Amino acid sequence: MDASLFCKDAPLLALAPMAGVADRAFRTLCRGEGADFVCSEMVSAKGVTLGDRKSGELMALSQSEQPAGIQLFGREPSCFTEATAAALKYTPAFVDINMGCPAHKVAGHGSGAALMKNPQLCAEITRAAVAAAGRVPVSVKMRGGWTDGSRNAVEIALRCEEAGAAWVTVHGRTRQQMYAPPVDYGIIAAVKAALRIPVLGNGDVTDGPSAQKMLEATGCDGIQIGRGALGRPWVFTQIRAFLARGEILPEPDAARRTEYLLRHMRALCAEKGERVGMREARKHAAWYTKGLRGAAKLRGEITSLQAFADLEAITQKIIALEA
Ligand SMILES: Cc1cc2nc3c(=O)[nH]c(=O)nc-3n(C[C@H](O)[C@H](O)[C@H](O)COP(=O)(O)O)c2cc1C
Repeated sequence: MDASLFCKDAPLLALAPMAGVADRAFRTLCRGEGADFVCSEMVSAKGVTLGDRKSGELMALSQSEQPAGIQLFGREPSCFTEATAAALKYTPAFVDINMGCPAHKVAGHGSGAALMKNPQLCAEITRAAVAAAGRVPVSVKMRGGWTDGSRNAVEIALRCEEAGAAWVTVHGRTRQQMYAPPVDYGIIAAVKAALRIPVLGNGDVTDGPSAQKMLEATGCDGIQIGRGALGRPWVFTQIRAFLARGEILPEPDAARRTEYLLRHMRALCAEKGERVGMREARKHAAWYTKGLRGAAKLRGEITSLQAFADLEAITQKIIALEA
């Protein structure tokens, strides 16, 4: 199986899939900042088979974000066969299978992290996707296990490897843990030690030192970064500088951060229109300006943003308050 995305001297840094956040605009920005590859928001395999319009919108990839993968979630191998074939029309660099989502609307219906309760099904789904994907690599994203008492990521990862997965990503928490306790490096290290294919570690990497800790503690081949990139797409540049030279690049100042924010929101509005774009801009603006003096004072204005021109005005005020 082709894992050429991993043919690099340095550890691989990827943007984690994040529904409702890591859309084309954000993914493109992160690629520009040095993410080696990105992945779509999770797409329902069942929805794809039913011709759901939203699934098509989620699977569409832009040239500028490549290499980019499409992530599918579901619980029926036959749906993965059909959905993987449909995903190929969008020319993904890989297809990823979601075995980690803890949300009730996904895991409560037997998909996402709930798949880890059934190793046989994990293997069947992987085999179905691999067969449908042809030369396109299939990866799997999983958690440490379903409950703290059933940390079976090693078994699941071995089954997926045997079924043809090109690499796996392990978020070092169980479904039971959701996002709360510190990441368990031990479970990621155990998966890495057991597999021949590459393993990405995931969970709580937000800067150079935490990236180095993940790499050293687990021996993993690369890292997926999720929340650490929210409002901070430059985190990839920072991590790379630290891993390569031990250099700690400072957080950008208010002017640079608002510049990133405006660039990101311009792209978002171009993709989704100003009305939807500005509604989504509220959370992004809060992330980009977190910790800035002016941002706290302007929180009310940020959370009721309506027009791009308002956002431009707010960023000017934030810069002035910071000076
Ligand atoms: C808002 C949000 C949306 C997410 N959506 C997805 C998703 O669509 N697919 C997926 O596999 N994981 C999803 N995740 C989980 C992340 O990919 C990642 O595994 C998790 O946040 C832990 O990594 P981090 O500490 O770097 O954020 C999501 C996480 C967040 C915060």
